Formats: sequence, structure tokens, C-alpha cells
Amino acid sequence: MTPGEPEPGSGAPASELEAARQRADALRTLIRHHNHRYYVLDDPQVPDAEYDRLVRELQDLESRYPDLVTPDSPTQRVGAAPRPEFTQVRHRVAMISLDNAMDDGALAEFHRRVASALPGSDEWVFTAEPKLDGLAVSIRYEGGLLVQAATRGDGTTGEDITANVRTIQNVPLRLLGSDWPAVLEVRGEVYLPHAGFERLNAQAAARGDKTFANPRNAAAGSLRQLDPRITAARPLRFCCYGWGEIAADPGESQFAMLQRIAGWGVPVSRELCQVTGLPGTRDYFDDLGRRRDALGYDIDGVVFKLDRLPDQVALGATAHHPRWAIARKFPAQEALTVVEAVEFQVGRTGAVTPVARLAPVSVGGVTVANATLHNLDEVERKDVRIGDTVYVRRAGDVIPEIVRVLPELRPADARAVVLPAACPVCGSDVIRPEGEAVARCSGGLYCPAQRKEAIRHFASRKAMDIEGLGEKLIDQLVERELVREPADLYRLTQGQFAGLERMGEKSAANLIAALEQSKETSFARFIFALGIREVGVATAAALAARFDSLEALMAAREQDFLRTSGLRGVGPKAAAAVQSWLLEHPDAQAAGDLGEWLMAQRIPGLNRAAAVALGRGCETLERLRAAAPEDLYGNSAALVEGVGPVVAAHLVGFFAQAHNREAIERLIAAGIRWPLRSAPSAAQAQPLAGKTFVITGTLGRARDAVKAELESLGAKVTGSVSKNTDYLLAGVEAGSKLAKAQELKVAVITEQQLAQLIGRS
Ligand code: IVH
Repeated sequence: MTPGEPEPGSGAPASELEAARQRADALRTLIRHHNHRYYVLDDPQVPDAEYDRLVRELQDLESRYPDLVTPDSPTQRVGAAPRPEFTQVRHRVAMISLDNAMDDGALAEFHRRVASALPGSDEWVFTAEPKLDGLAVSIRYEGGLLVQAATRGDGTTGEDITANVRTIQNVPLRLLGSDWPAVLEVRGEVYLPHAGFERLNAQAAARGDKTFANPRNAAAGSLRQLDPRITAARPLRFCCYGWGEIAADPGESQFAMLQRIAGWGVPVSRELCQVTGLPGTRDYFDDLGRRRDALGYDIDGVVFKLDRLPDQVALGATAHHPRWAIARKFPAQEALTVVEAVEFQVGRTGAVTPVARLAPVSVGGVTVANATLHNLDEVERKDVRIGDTVYVRRAGDVIPEIVRVLPELRPADARAVVLPAACPVCGSDVIRPEGEAVARCSGGLYCPAQRKEAIRHFASRKAMDIEGLGEKLIDQLVERELVREPADLYRLTQGQFAGLERMGEKSAANLIAALEQSKETSFARFIFALGIREVGVATAAALAARFDSLEALMAAREQDFLRTSGLRGVGPKAAAAVQSWLLEHPDAQAAGDLGEWLMAQRIPGLNRAAAVALGRGCETLERLRAAAPEDLYGNSAALVEGVGPVVAAHLVGFFAQAHNREAIERLIAAGIRWPLRSAPSAAQAQPLAGKTFVITGTLGRARDAVKAELESLGAKVTGSVSKNTDYLLAGVEAGSKLAKAQELKVAVITEQQLAQLIGRS
């Protein structure tokens, strides 16, 4: 309870009245402030639900203590004053608001009121349609032509927004047919569908402009643009739900009249229908609630209107709202709260995710105390800091998330969110590869957070294929601490299995047998089963084929997985730029340091770093001229299919950790084995050992792949033909290198001949 708030039932009446007066004053000041932000600045500080709560609290106080009502209380008018920039429009039929039913009881109360005012049947027919979350407008047609459009304003006087409304694609400028009344004001909501909202915000973000908090604010901002060309660029939509002045008899039924309006080309809701009695209204509300997220536009409730127009007239209206209609509101999906802390959680795959701990707040009837921040990119993009006031949103079953920070409410001591260096669960290093949003714990098998996942992966069909060891069982084994790492599986007894839920003696015996059977495996399966990041079935097979033993694989360094060539700091574009410049300047002579000289030539596309690297790498202009492009730019070729620089780093990193090596030792000690490959003879393994190759022209495969294959067979691949070259592998359009090879009598072979040479065909 906030200070100054009256405590129900406590204190003498006089002090109670005084407390209520103070609270009402405080509420009025707050509401006026928010009105200004909302209606004048189009930049609300609090979610609508928060605002509504304040207004309801004030209404409540004023109805309990009518003496407290002041003529200037925000409850005494509807909407806000029109802005002076727009011409004012007086509504000939007032645009009144709707009464709200926040829960089922209030809806039932509405039905009782209708029934007591219109005795007779209790099977009242209502029109039912979504309560669109946009802005109310009135559009006036005379002689079938759109002549004026206005905002609701204070209900009596609005703003002339004709030019803006004329830009809304689904608003007809001329009514269809000819049976329309000479004067017709259609009333409805202007809104922004989700797709349009996202597009608009993406464009704003790309320009570095402020983004809109929600579609409603975006629609409001768009509609009240003084320049209608800006409005025209915004994908607004209109939906009609009623009418104002009308120079004809609207007939007997709200539903039928809306159908006629639709026939004149004015959009009405696709969800519009007729329902009967309290059960009909409840069913419609529940149904639309379930479909709410799939509608593609924001709604904040459902509107029910007594269908028979004579009944509407009989019931009439208060100063604020009709007695024949009610808005049954959905619980709000957004609320305002404070980020008290940001903690990091480790997911089952090792992803380290920031989670905001919030001051608990009720959102849509559920208390929310945590919100996901997804990853650090998200934290940076939204600029969330500890201490910040934020909007949280909960939609359907989705985990609550932080929509936006209110920077104007940021305290001076707000703290930035920092990624921990060590995993909060196991203490292993947390690694966030450059350019990636997701940070991960490097603990792998060792990290308790990843245990279940590691064991599930280990037992899976393509890994150790332990039949019958499913997810539920693994959960139990880990939760009862019977298993901490894969090797523990092989120590379990039949009795231990039989003690688990839904496990009989028979299935326990089967499991023991399946575990025993799984010990006999293949090297590839074993590598895959270790769950090394980025090492899938195919890569595991390629590694098993390349390395003779587990020891060799564990001892491998990056250079055993990758051959890196060329010069660091030189990209393919810089290499191409230099080479084409050299071709255009065949007579150029370098003097002094090659790198400096290259810089001085001001070669387009060559920066300083690349020039320096080329200078260091080639030393002389002659060598630079003779080099093949792939010898110049930094490049790495996989020696094992599927193992690029990232996978190589994961492999080396995994085996470098003592706890992983120890876990592997325990698996081997448990009896896991695989048939040894018969060691290939040196000649078999390296048929091209000692041979030097040069590649030229366009090949049938990527040049890097061919190069890697040659190297894996023991060959050396260089960039230029010399008397030391054994073979020139020539593809299509071989040029100067072919001539040079012929001159030096170097063997020239095609790709097919190479295949024969290495016994691949
Ligand atoms: S009927 C006399 N129907 O809600 C009845 N209003 O809270 C006037 N709204 O100002 C309103 N969808 O901006 C009606 N299907 C709907 C609506 C709807 C959204 C808005 C409208 C109105 C406000 C009242």
C-alpha cells in the first residue's frame, strides 16, 4: 500500500475522508501527467492498463466520496483536448465511450441491467466483435463522397484529419452502389496490423530513429502527422463498428445496418457476428481470447452491443457510455515494473542466457517475477540495465519478456549487464564467439546443467545407441544422482534400475544387456557420442577416418585439422586489386620496402594493413607478380571434411580440458571399445608424399577442396610453376602457368588423370 492511501475500514470517518482526498489529488496529478504524455506528446510513459488502473481507482474513490469530485477531475471528461494545429470538428452526434467489464461477474451484471430495463425475454441478441486497440475516428460521407474525417477528441469536438484518413488504403473515398443515405458518418477504429507495425519499426531502427512501443502508439503517431505524406507511408487500416449522423432510418438491427455499410465498401470486422444471452457472449469471449494471438492485430477485448436498435434507444446512454453496450476486456498483457537483478542461466545445451529478476507484477492475471532477455545482443539492443523501469509483456503461453526500457526513469546508479567469465553452474569458461549473440559454457560433459542433455545425446541412436534408455529414465537417473556422467551408466546395477519409476525387473535386465551391448561400438560413434559442439555424425566419421587412434585425435592441434595458407590481413579483394593493378602496370618497378611502395601507388581497394602484409610476405615485386591469388590471401582449407576453423577450435578446446579427458578415460575403463582399423601402410595413406603440385584454371570442384585433398594425400601445393614442380593440375582456361609448365617439361594432368593417379576412379 502506498503512503497516503486510505486503509479500508480504519480510522475515524473524518481522517478517512482526508486520506481519500489526498489520494484523489495524487491520482489526478498522475492522470493529468499521463494524459499529456499520451494525447499530446504521443509518447506514453506507462502501459494503458496501468493508466486504466489509476483512472478506475479515482472513479472508485469519487463514487465512494462524491464530495471529492472536482469539475476539472480527469474523470469529468472523455478523451483529451484537441491540439491547436488541427482544425476542430464538432461532432453532430457525440462520440461516447464504452463501459468496461473486467471479469465475468461484471459481464453478468451488464446482462442483469439490460434484463431489468427491458423486461420480457432474457434471450437478448447481441452483436459481438473485437475491441480493436487503435484510435476512434468518424468519417463523413455526403452524396457518397468522403468529405471529412475527425478524431474523437473529447467526444464533442475532435480534430480534422481528413487528409490523413484519405491516405488509408481500405477507406473508400466514394461509397459503392447508390442506395446510401445522403449523409452518413461511419465510426470505427484506425489501427496498425502487426506486420505493418514490425515493418515500420524495422525501418525506424534502420534509420536510427526512435521505435514505437506498440502498434497503437504507432497508429496514433501516424494519424496525427501534420504531413499526410507521412501518414500515407504507414500501413494503417480502418474497421467500422458503428455510425454517427445518418440521413436515413438505420432500420431495426445493428448487425443488419453494419452489413449494409459493408455493402457500401466500408470495412467491418470479419469477426462480427450475433450471439444470444449470457452464454453466447461468454463463448464468444473465450473463443476470441484463444484466437487473439493469431488475429494479426492488437485487440484488448470484445464489444457486445444489444442488436435491436429500438432497444438501444430505449436503454439510452449516460454522459459517458451507452447502456446497451459493454466492452468485456481481456486481462492486460503489459505492465510496468523494475529490473532488480539480471542472472545468467545455463541451458541444457550450454547456452548462457540472461534472465531479468523483476519486482513481481501482475500481468494478465498472472504474477510475473522473471523475464527472459534471450541473449546479450538483445540486452544491448534494448539497453536494459539493472535498476531500470521496464514494460513487461506476457502473451499466451510465451515466457514473459521485456518490451522496452523507460530511460527517463533510469536511476543514476543503474548497472550494466555483464556476461560472467565463468559458468555460474560449473565454473568452466564462458565463451562467446566473435559476432555471435549466444554465449556458452565450455563445460560440456562436466557441467551439471548440461548433464541430462549430454547423457541423452550419448545414449541416442546415432551415438552409443543404448536401447531403452529414454529421456524420462535419464531424468530420474540424473535427479537421483545415480548418474553424473556417461561412464556412470556402465556402473549401474539391475537393482538400481528396477528401483526407478515405471521399471520392472524385466526392463531393468534388458537395459543392463543394452548397456553391455553398446560397449562394442565404432570410433566414429564414440567421437559423436562425446557431444563436442558442432561435431555431427558426418564430421565424427571424417575424424575417425583421418585419425588412427583416440590418442592421436586428442593430441591434435589446429594445424592437424586445417591447412592455412596465404597471408593474414590480405583478403581476396585486396589480392585481386593488387594483381589487376600489376597487370595494368607491367613496367612498374618497386623501390625500397615493398609494402611502403605498394601504399604509395594508391592502388584502389588496397588498404594499409593488406599492403604491409603483402610487403612482408612477398618481399620483392617479382615474387608478388609470380604469386597465385590463393597464395596471397589468408585462407584455410579443411584437411578433414566438415572441420573448418570453428569446429577445429571446438575440438582442440574440448580435448584441452582435463575434466573431459578424464571423463573419456573413465569411459574407456568402463570397457568401451571399437575394432582397430588395420593400420594403412605409409604408401597407401600418402600416395602423393613428396610430390609438388600447382593448380591452374577452373576445376570441377572448389579449388580449396582439391588442394586439401592433395595435401591430405601427402602432396605439397604451391602457387607457381618451377623446375621443382612435379605436376600441373590444369582445369579449363589454364593460362600462363600451362605455358610455363610446357616450357619446363612439367607433367600436366587433368582432374580425371589425377583421380586415376590416386586410385579414386
Ligand atoms: S463502440 C457508442 N466498438 O473503444 C459506442 N468501440 O472504449 C462507441 N473500440 O472509443 C464505441 N473497438 O475507440 C466500439 N468494436 C468496437 C470497438 C470500439 C474499439 C474503441 C473505440 C471507443 C473505445 C471505447
